[in-house]
Amino acid sequence: MKQKIVVITGGNSGIGKAAAVQIAQQGHKVIIACRSQQRGEAALADIRQQANSSAVELMVVDMSRQSSIRTFAQAFLARYAQLDVLIQNAALFDIRQKQIEFTDEGVEKVWATNHVGPVLLTNLLLDALKQSEQGRILTISSKGLIAYPFLKVNLVDPEFRERKFSVQKAYYQSKQAQVMYTYWLAKMLAETAVTANAIRVTNVQIDVDERYPNMPSLLRKMYRFKSQFSISPAEMAKTYTYLALSPEVAQTSGTYYDDPTHIVESSAYTHDWEAIEALMQTTWRFIQAPGAV
Ligand SMILES: NC(=O)c1ccc[n+]([C@@H]2O[C@H](COP(=O)([O-])OP(=O)(O)OC[C@H]3O[C@@H](n4cnc5c(N)ncnc54)[C@H](OP(=O)(O)O)[C@@H]3O)[C@@H](O)[C@H]2O)c1
Repeated sequence: MKQKIVVITGGNSGIGKAAAVQIAQQGHKVIIACRSQQRGEAALADIRQQANSSAVELMVVDMSRQSSIRTFAQAFLARYAQLDVLIQNAALFDIRQKQIEFTDEGVEKVWATNHVGPVLLTNLLLDALKQSEQGRILTISSKGLIAYPFLKVNLVDPEFRERKFSVQKAYYQSKQAQVMYTYWLAKMLAETAVTANAIRVTNVQIDVDERYPNMPSLLRKMYRFKSQFSISPAEMAKTYTYLALSPEVAQTSGTYYDDPTHIVESSAYTHDWEAIEALMQTTWRFIQAPGAV
């Protein structure tokens, strides 16, 4: 078996961490790309131990900040000539958040972390993905979008500067944008060996005490109740692992999965090519020095 090089953003927790364990267990090299050195190091030790593998590394990146993403990409490319799998797992969805927040680069944080950051990171690592025998990009969306069948990305004001901010609206808008971005990538990369697929994540257990230590008790109760109907991070990570490694999907691109055997549909709007192109034009405006795929 040829060892693949796999980058997982937000690999220090939840599904990303479980996927890191599963992929390392299969003998591949995993780089967890985390915003906190401390949380990253704790996860790294745990992943290495669970996977019984020393081929797991930590690199720091804050996906909300373009300067950090550029530094990360530079450091990665200085060490690796190729990348086989990029899993864009990191995301911001803190339901305690009531007020809009901006990064120190001046971009609304949910939009910056969940959509603009992944687009920039893919772009910076694309040549390395093309160096792979068969590069793969996985983006992560949410089953919660089912509750918003007519949701459109607001291209005039994706950052909620002129409309009332809600973290739910910002989050689902960013996840809708990631699905559309995946379709765009698949089309742009059709003549290459690089594929792009999206994963629809269902309700997955979150360790509320660890992730949100100061959560108000009512929200905490709600999370605990919801978690009875949620699957484990390891169960969800099987879809990540399958799409990252399985030879069965080497030719599959532009597809939306919710488990290894189940392809799902996104809304008609997300397939509208004019809407996808308009989204990407808007997205490039947020990226300081856009490059073309
Ligand atoms: N759990 C669910 O029910 C559910 C449902 C639908 C979709 N999803 C999606 O599934 C993916 C994984 O979520 P999860 O359930 O595993 O949640 P999680 O445990 O909260 O993991 C999120 C990860 O993203 C990282 N992250 C957040 N902001 C970041 C930033 N600016 N830079 C770098 N990393 C950052 C977090 O790092 P820190 O530890 O530093 O915060 C954490 O490692 C996400 O894309 C999420 O939107 C989850």
